[in-house]
Amino acid sequence: MKIITSISDMHKVSLVLKREGRTIGFVPTMGALHKGHVTLIDKAKRENNKVVLSIFVNPIQFAPGEDYHSYPRDKERDEIMASQSGVDILFLPSADEMYPDGYETFVNVEGITELLCGKFRHGHFKGVATVVLKLFNIVMPDRAYFGEKDYQQMLVIKRMVNDLNLNIDIVSMPTIREEDGLAMSSRNTYLDSGERVSAVSLYKALKTSEDMVKNGERDTMKIINEMERIIRSETAAKIDYISICDPDTLKDIKTINGRALAALSVRIGNARLIDNCMLGVK
Ligand code: PAJ
Repeated sequence: MKIITSISDMHKVSLVLKREGRTIGFVPTMGALHKGHVTLIDKAKRENNKVVLSIFVNPIQFAPGEDYHSYPRDKERDEIMASQSGVDILFLPSADEMYPDGYETFVNVEGITELLCGKFRHGHFKGVATVVLKLFNIVMPDRAYFGEKDYQQMLVIKRMVNDLNLNIDIVSMPTIREEDGLAMSSRNTYLDSGERVSAVSLYKALKTSEDMVKNGERDTMKIINEMERIIRSETAAKIDYISICDPDTLKDIKTINGRALAALSVRIGNARLIDNCMLGVK
């Protein structure tokens, strides 16, 4: 595995690969790698000649007071995991080179970024869209891989790619979970053992929403009330939002007639956890 830290070196390597006619699959991450990241790498390996993985804890997607400084960083462990997963190129840019003094260009996807997590994390998606576009320009991938665990983020990236006419396929992969259902996340390391038990309530609430829809419930208020009850039974949990919404626009829906997304964000201890599932009605 080749490790690249400078933007110009990454650019040059990608240009050579493209000239040779090779396809590049790209997996952007913030590190603290887990099985969720590895499924994206596996998929990228199956579909491309070369796989680039980036690890960059992007300062501009964290609001003041969020966990930028405490975000888990473990370069050695990540390097081993990336190499064992078959990554060809590990790209580790520095914040100084990504955002030098005088930096003042940002990408703002409107509309969908104002809902769900956008209501609680001001500027977050602007930071995500900006860094992802910069990384796309540096790595020049044919395909880029995103997890459905961060459903709104994936939608924001798809919208940006579409609106700005980028020639990149965005491929999404299902959420990878721990055995008890908790969605894997780098932020799960913030949970102590009691909080870790409470955290399963997100999954339980989503499962309940699925079961209710399967049993014929269509009224989203009734489903959300039941999800809320499950999460409130965990004293450590504070709900940011629970939403049942249109999977394309993220706007709340009252009655389920077709596909609907159940999404939630809950704070447990120092961790802000998000999860979602698709509720289907044929
Ligand atoms: P990070 O949280 O490291 O996630 C990197 C990618 O892994 C994202 O596409 C995310 O959706 C996916 N992922 C995380 N947990 C997953 C799980 N349990 N199952 C499947 N996929 C999972 O998301 C970011 O980093 C950043 O915002 C980034 C896009 C890199 C921009 O800075």
